[in-house]
Amino acid sequence: MSQDAIAIASDHAGFEVKNEMSKLLAELGHAVVDLGANGPESVDYPDFADAMAVALSDGRASQGVLICGTGIGISIAANRHRHVRAARCCDATDARLARQHNDANVLVLGSRTSGSETARDCVLAFLNTEFEGGRHQRRIDKMS
Ligand code: RB5
Repeated sequence: MSQDAIAIASDHAGFEVKNEMSKLLAELGHAVVDLGANGPESVDYPDFADAMAVALSDGRASQGVLICGTGIGISIAANRHRHVRAARCCDATDARLARQHNDANVLVLGSRTSGSETARDCVLAFLNTEFEGGRHQRRIDKMS
């Protein structure tokens, strides 16, 4: 059965990890909305964070994955959009708690700081964890 569409984007530093995670998402049965970058040429990560924000607001995707060198710049840029809750995750525990407690709708990875296996673990934990709601919803509401 087809799963929800997931958008993915990166800058040049995250381009290779983007392709790997794109493949993983497709293997898991998701429609993948690839927002670029399309190669290793230098680009600016805020442009791809903005493209992710649009893909989430116009309904092309329900969740997203963003990648830059550290994951820091692209998460700062993504979180300037009120409807985006982008969580930079370094391991599967981060990714699980980002979903359970923060209802993160975008997983952010650092290609220079996390290896492929860790990135893969983060994606799996992120997609397989539900938001717990309750007291956490109250906190999310205060940010919306
Ligand atoms: C690009 O060289 C690098 O600055 C970017 O990918 C990211 O790490 C910024 O936070």
